[in-house]
Amino acid sequence: MQLCGSRPGKSIYQWASTFMVAAWCALALLPRPAFAAQAPEPPSAGAAIRYDSATRVFRLDAAGVTYAFGVNEAGELQSLYWGARLAAGDSLAAAHSRPGWASFEPPVDTTPQEFVAWGGGLYVEPDLKLTFPDGNRDLVLRYVSHRIDGNRLFVTMKDISLEVWVTLEYQIDPETGVLRRSATIENRTAGPFTIEQAFAATWNLPRGTDYRLRYLAGRWAGEWQVQQQPVHPGKTVLESRRGTTGAQNNPWFAIDREGENDPDHGGVWFGALGWSGSWEITVEQDQMRDVRVSGGFNNFDFGYLLQKGQSLRTPDFYAGYTQDGIGGASRLLHQFEIGSILPHAPTPPLRPVLYDSWEATGFGVDEAGQIALAEKAASIGVERFVMDDGWFGERNNDHAGLGDWYPSPQKFPHGLRPLIDKVHALGMSFGLWVEPEMVNPDSELYREHPDWVLYFPNRPRSEGRNQLVLNLARPDVRDWVFNTLNNLLNQNAIDFLKWDYNRNWSEPGWPQVPPDQEKNVYVDFIRNYYSILAELREKHPKLEIESCSGGGSRVDLGVMRYTDEVWPSDNTDAYDRLLIQNGFTYAYTPGVMMAWVTDSPSWANHRSLSLEYRFLSSMQGALGVGANLNRWTPEDFATAKKMIAQYKSIRETVQRGRLYRLIQPTEGSEQSATEYVGPDGRQTVVFAFLHSSSELYPYPRLCLRGLDRNAMYRVSVMDGRLDAGTPREASGAWWMNHGIDVDLSGDFQAAAFTLERETAPSRVP
Ligand code: GLA
Repeated sequence: MQLCGSRPGKSIYQWASTFMVAAWCALALLPRPAFAAQAPEPPSAGAAIRYDSATRVFRLDAAGVTYAFGVNEAGELQSLYWGARLAAGDSLAAAHSRPGWASFEPPVDTTPQEFVAWGGGLYVEPDLKLTFPDGNRDLVLRYVSHRIDGNRLFVTMKDISLEVWVTLEYQIDPETGVLRRSATIENRTAGPFTIEQAFAATWNLPRGTDYRLRYLAGRWAGEWQVQQQPVHPGKTVLESRRGTTGAQNNPWFAIDREGENDPDHGGVWFGALGWSGSWEITVEQDQMRDVRVSGGFNNFDFGYLLQKGQSLRTPDFYAGYTQDGIGGASRLLHQFEIGSILPHAPTPPLRPVLYDSWEATGFGVDEAGQIALAEKAASIGVERFVMDDGWFGERNNDHAGLGDWYPSPQKFPHGLRPLIDKVHALGMSFGLWVEPEMVNPDSELYREHPDWVLYFPNRPRSEGRNQLVLNLARPDVRDWVFNTLNNLLNQNAIDFLKWDYNRNWSEPGWPQVPPDQEKNVYVDFIRNYYSILAELREKHPKLEIESCSGGGSRVDLGVMRYTDEVWPSDNTDAYDRLLIQNGFTYAYTPGVMMAWVTDSPSWANHRSLSLEYRFLSSMQGALGVGANLNRWTPEDFATAKKMIAQYKSIRETVQRGRLYRLIQPTEGSEQSATEYVGPDGRQTVVFAFLHSSSELYPYPRLCLRGLDRNAMYRVSVMDGRLDAGTPREASGAWWMNHGIDVDLSGDFQAAAFTLERETAPSRVP
């Protein structure tokens, strides 16, 4: 927890390591030789990519970031700098490969490289590893040429003798300085070869020994747990081998320096992969104490057969740098996701308040029951009604029906139209649950096409939730899934799909192709999944989609390009959600984070929480309601109506604003608090939660962040109480330095308040 007005000091060890970094920086930033060709100065805003032909150094600048690498005398791409933006006139010395270390570490290992293939005595993590038909497995890439196109840079490399070409793509975002990198491997040889490992990029950090890694781990109903550990010599592998993103690790990392305990100050290097299949991020501190992060396709069971003339593009690996601590890293990622990743970026629409039937009715959906719920939902201000699982085929439980995507004749004798018309007449949009990549063996689809799933012949087909995975890599299966959904959307006025995916892969065989091509499934499946999403969006431009995977198992920057929101967890216990949402927002914007208010006691922990508490927990993201409205009292309806109206008045601040974690609900903390400063700074919203009070300790004073210290702000309570002495109006300096006392006591209590910035005339001197 951060005390008002304080800033942690550095230990002697940190000062020592800062000195080492400074020394490294000084060496890298040697004065430019007088004969160097003078490249144009980068502008102070926007993005610029420059190549200095004299030093053969590439320099990328945008927002607060400079990134640089050079071509060394061996023709390798050598990393030179990644950190805070340098002055326009600063120049970086030409790259020179580092000397080896005895006979055991050749220069290829001691030289930090942008993208390195396995060959010539490489022992650190390679970006690329191939096997050729003649048994050769050696690959040595050298710089060939480059092309700069606005804020994109393409660097072409080639093997020293073979016709294996690799094009690295760099794109730097002008607003955030976030870099996107990928590699395209091209086979211009006379035959096929197998790609056994293909990463998008390696990110080299400044030499240092005091790094701390943060990453996300979890499991079903317990996703998004933030982990942290020192970076020691050796490797930490974050990964999914599941065919899909997974909740066990999420493809995100952040590295800062140990002892940086202020969440909003200090250097942080962070990144995330845009890939929804098996992925890997490796954080390695090598024998020379250099730290590198590399990532892309998971190389476990990987083996992509690339025919001659074909190319393979890796996933995108995004990375950024900030000096504003781990909080600043999250805010930059949020800004980047909204500005560059989400559909309709840079102005994706705000999330409507949604109702979902799952926790209320389970599989027991029918026309009358859903209409009754829709009427109640509309009465409290819900804007979108979603009918969840159970509406199709013989789907009365999770044993049957997946694959048969037509309305159940028993539950919807007149089709979906009467319900959809009613929902629209109530002024809400209509959403429908689907799980298109799955099939129950007890379904018409499976009985007709038992070979459409992932399987190895004559081996068991392991089920998860009584279902198997359709092999989307097959073109016929891909087209069937697309046509089925396209017809559903053509025949019904559906505005939104909740797209679910309730298990991971097993026995990932593809017996219809030659054995040496079967492992292409790891790439082709995901590419086809993306292509279905893209084509559906193109044909139905108003359609919105949620990515759900039994909770938060498919959330990444790849799927977020095609989906408007995500479901972070099936665990809807409002207290557990504080922790889940806290971890989620390290990597992803609250603007896509669906959060339902559900029944109390919750199914998850049998914990009872007030309706106000549950609302305030959910209002920190994209608000939804998933409770059984048939059981609500008139008071519940009144409370919900009031709080949904309040949410609408703060929605833009929460979904688009800058998030500050004032107190985190981690490490057994009895409190937690979040602050959102709206995009234009006019509105600020603070949520405060007390988990349990004891021994009469008062709630800690909250010192706000990110305000204009000279502007005046007027406070209003949304729910709960502030200390009686709280001024109604005070300067940003007051709210940030003096802080604010929230009057909370008892167990599972919550409060929320807003600050509205006064217009210019009332600014304090
Ligand atoms: C998954 C989802 C839930 C719900 C059920 C329906 O578990 O995460 O929200 O849609 O499937 O079967």
